[in-house]
Amino acid sequence: MSGSHEPLVFSGMQPTGNLHLGNYLGAIRNWLKLQQQYRCVYCVVDMHAITVDHDPKALAQATREVTAAYIASGIDPKTSIIFNQSQVAAHAELAWIFNCVARVGWLNRMTQFKEKAGKNREAMSVGLYTYPVLMAADILAYRATHVPVGDDQKQHVELARDIAQKFNNDFGVPDFFPAPEPIITGPATRVMSLRDGTAKMSKSDPSDNSRINLTDDADTIAQKFKRAKTDPHPLPEAEEELAARPEADNLISIYAAFAEKAKQAVLDEFKGAQFSTFKGALSELVVAKLSPIASEMRRLLADPAEIDRILRDGAEKARATAAPVMAEVRRVVGFVS
Ligand code: TYM
Repeated sequence: MSGSHEPLVFSGMQPTGNLHLGNYLGAIRNWLKLQQQYRCVYCVVDMHAITVDHDPKALAQATREVTAAYIASGIDPKTSIIFNQSQVAAHAELAWIFNCVARVGWLNRMTQFKEKAGKNREAMSVGLYTYPVLMAADILAYRATHVPVGDDQKQHVELARDIAQKFNNDFGVPDFFPAPEPIITGPATRVMSLRDGTAKMSKSDPSDNSRINLTDDADTIAQKFKRAKTDPHPLPEAEEELAARPEADNLISIYAAFAEKAKQAVLDEFKGAQFSTFKGALSELVVAKLSPIASEMRRLLADPAEIDRILRDGAEKARATAAPVMAEVRRVVGFVS
């Protein structure tokens, strides 16, 4: 279905707390590669961030921090559109229309809502429940064809495909929206917690030792890797042996992603080594890659007015890109204007 649509890349990140290695390796790093080739729109999804309780001051600060992380990592606001979601009304408007296209049964299958709500479903905001519908609107307001994300967002992008298809069918406009494709690539599409190789590395984990934040200093990074959970065996020879060793697999994957090597190539180098040796090499590599990003982030954050200017400028471009799509959407749905 996306065949006849011009390629356009869209992705986003929530401004809630610290960005960590998972966000960087699962998403931002892939965004960089795509901006050389495609039109790219990278959003700071502040409207998604208010689906759970939030502190307004912290939200504004986190929005600027995520923007700084994008730019410090190499996303160029002159090449890609960088903006925060709430400045472009098309997201909320299209989300409402999609709320009337998506089915309750579809949302009931969303695993992330189930995980976040747990037993407290009734007490969650309605926004948290329809969160994936807003995400579909983010993507389709620009008729985006490709969505680079970590593994945990796959189901949400698939829902966006279902919504696009149902809209096209319901309104008899066969090729109106593309079917956006998730791009989930690299050896670290699902970076795991450093404390538990079976849980995802996450901003919401209460233990800061479970994750490496983009802004952690060299000592903190080394300490966190040193304390990272491992098993008692030396590193294996073959990649297949990692399947039963989730903590080893995670650390090898992080190394492979930063070194831009296959996991097997990393094992060829470290097979038979003790974790203490490998963790030292891993810390060195990660510090070398992250410290320039952290210092550039600090430099950018010293001038918040400039960050706000970049976001306003990006929002203007985003509004101009979404405007013709939204004009057609209103006509197709039957809204008089
Ligand atoms: P968010 O803010 O939770 O995460 C941002 C990106 O980081 C990826 N990610 C990970 N990748 C690998 N390992 C991990 N441990 C890990 N943790 C997070 C996520 O997969 C994501 O790519 N709903 C989205 C934000 C969003 C969005 C969109 C994304 C809103 N609208 C439209 C794409 C298109 C979210 O909460 O991501």
